Amino acid sequence: MTMKRLLVLSLGCWLLAGCAPKIGSLERIAVVPRPSSVAAGEGEFRLEPCTPLYFRAADSLSCAAAAFDELAHALFGASLPVMQGDSLRAGTVGLLRVDSLREDAYCLTVEPDRVMIAAGGDRGAFYAVQTLRQLISATCFSKKAIGGATGGVSIPAVRIDDAPTMPYRGLMLDVARHFFTVEEVKRTLDLMALHKLNVFHWHLTDDQGWRIEIRKYPKLTEIGSVRRRTLIGHDPGGEYDETCRYDETPHGGYYTQAEIREVVDYAARRCITVIPEVEFPGHAVAALASYPWLGCTGEQYEVRQTWDIDDRVFCVGRDSTFDFIEGVLDEVLELFPSPLIHIGGDECPDKMWACCPHCRERMRREGLTSERQLQGYATTRVERYLAARGRRLMGWDELLDGGVSPTAVVMSWRGSEGGIRAARRGNPVVMAPTTHCYLDYYQTADTTSEPLAWGGCLPLEQVYALDPYEGLNARERANVLGVQANLWTEYIADFAQAQYMLLPRLAAVAERGWCPAGNDYADFRRRLRHLTGYYDALGYRRASHGTED
Ligand code: ACM
Ligand code: ZN
Repeated sequence: MTMKRLLVLSLGCWLLAGCAPKIGSLERIAVVPRPSSVAAGEGEFRLEPCTPLYFRAADSLSCAAAAFDELAHALFGASLPVMQGDSLRAGTVGLLRVDSLREDAYCLTVEPDRVMIAAGGDRGAFYAVQTLRQLISATCFSKKAIGGATGGVSIPAVRIDDAPTMPYRGLMLDVARHFFTVEEVKRTLDLMALHKLNVFHWHLTDDQGWRIEIRKYPKLTEIGSVRRRTLIGHDPGGEYDETCRYDETPHGGYYTQAEIREVVDYAARRCITVIPEVEFPGHAVAALASYPWLGCTGEQYEVRQTWDIDDRVFCVGRDSTFDFIEGVLDEVLELFPSPLIHIGGDECPDKMWACCPHCRERMRREGLTSERQLQGYATTRVERYLAARGRRLMGWDELLDGGVSPTAVVMSWRGSEGGIRAARRGNPVVMAPTTHCYLDYYQTADTTSEPLAWGGCLPLEQVYALDPYEGLNARERANVLGVQANLWTEYIADFAQAQYMLLPRLAAVAERGWCPAGNDYADFRRRLRHLTGYYDALGYRRASHGTED
C-alpha cells in the first residue's frame, strides 16, 4: 500500500469513525469563534523549531502554509523544516486537503505525537491554523518574547471539527472620516484573520474625504482627500460636534492604486475579500469639492470638516454624473476582484434634487413620482453597469426605499427591519444593525469614563446577543449571507482608539457569524479571557469593559 493510500485510509477512519481522543480538560481549549465540535484529549504535543511540516504542493493550501510559517516565525524566529508529501509520522505536523470536507471546513487533531490538519480547501486549512494559534499560550506570542520560544511550545491534545455557518463575516472600516495608513489597515486585517472574519468592507469615500486614487479624476485625491481642520479632542461632559475641539492643521491621506493592490493582496492571503465602498449618490461633498459640476448647483464647496448628514449630494439629473461614477467604477473594478461592490446609498437627502431643473427633468422623463424613486433610478442604473461587468451591487438598507432590484445585496443598518424585509423579498442580506454591530458606540452607559464616541451605548453582551436570523423562517434565513461589525470613525482619530473600540466587541460579532445558533455568554466570556491575552501579547489596545471577572 502506498503511503498516500495509507494516509487517506487512516484519516478516513479518523474522520468517519469519530475516534476522538478521550475527553480531558476543556479549560485549556478556549477558541473564539466557538468551533462546531471540540473533544479534548489527554496529553499535549510539543511543537519545536525542528518539527517538520508536511504538505503536498498539489493541495494548493498556500494561505494556510503561509499562516503556519508566520506562526513559526512568531514563536521561533524561523520557519519549520518543510517536507513535501504525506505524513502521519510521529513528531510531525501534517496539512492535507480532503474531498470529504467543505472548502472552508477543517478537522484539527492534536495528539501527543502529531498534529494533523485536514481541510476541504485553503480557507478551511487557514482557519485551522488560526485555531491552532489560539491553542498555544498567548504569552508565547508576546512582543517581548517574539521568536524566543526556541525550547518549543505545548499544544493540548484535542480534536476540533469546524466550519463557519455564515459565508459573510465582515468588518467595515471608515477611512474617510479619519485616514488610516496601509500599515494600520494591514494590522486590522491581521485582527480579522485571528477572528476568522472574511470580508473587509472598506469605506473609501465620504463627505469628509476621498481616499482612493482614480487616475481619470485626479482632483478627487488632490482636493478631495484633505480637509482643512483636524479633530484634536473634546471638552468633557458633552457629546457631538459642539464639544469637539479642532485646530487648523489639515487632515488627509489617500491610497495610491499600488497601495490598494497591496492591501487587496495582503487580505487575499488571509482569506479575506475586500469590498470597496464608493458612496453614491449621498455622502458626496469631497467629490463635489473636487469637481463642482457633479452637484446640482455647480457651486464650489470645501471638503466637509464636521459630521452628520449633508444636503449636498450628486446631481442625478445630469448624464455627466453617471459618466463620472462609471469612470470611477471602471478603475475600482480593476483594483478589486470582489464579486460585490458597495455603493453606499444611505442618508441621501433630496433637498437639492427637489429644486434642480436637471433632476426634475429626469423625474418627468422617467415617470418618477418622488425623489426616493429618483434615488432608486440612480441605483438601478449603477447596478446595471456593474451587472454588465459581472459584479453585483451592494448598498445600505435605504436601497429598499427607492425600489430595489431582487439581486441587490442589502446591508441592514437601521435596525434589523430592513434586512428582514429584504430577506422576505428574496434579496441577499447582511445584518449590521446599529443595535448590535455599531462598534463606534460607547461600550458602557458611563460615557464619562470612555473616550468620546458616537452617542449610542453598545456593551459587549448586547453585541453577543445579535440574532441574525430573528423574525425569519427557514426559507428567508437562507437569504441572510452574514453579519458585519461597523467602525465609523468620526470620533476615532487614531489607530489606538480604533483598536480600543473594536476589541473585544469584534470577537462577539465574529462568533455570531461563525455559529449564530446557541448563545452561551458565560462560555463566550471564558474563552474571551484567553483571547484578550492574545490582544495584549500582540500589542493591540483593547477595552476591558465586559471582560472583567
Ligand atoms: C450608516 O451608518 N449611515 C450606514
Ligand atoms: Zn440635480
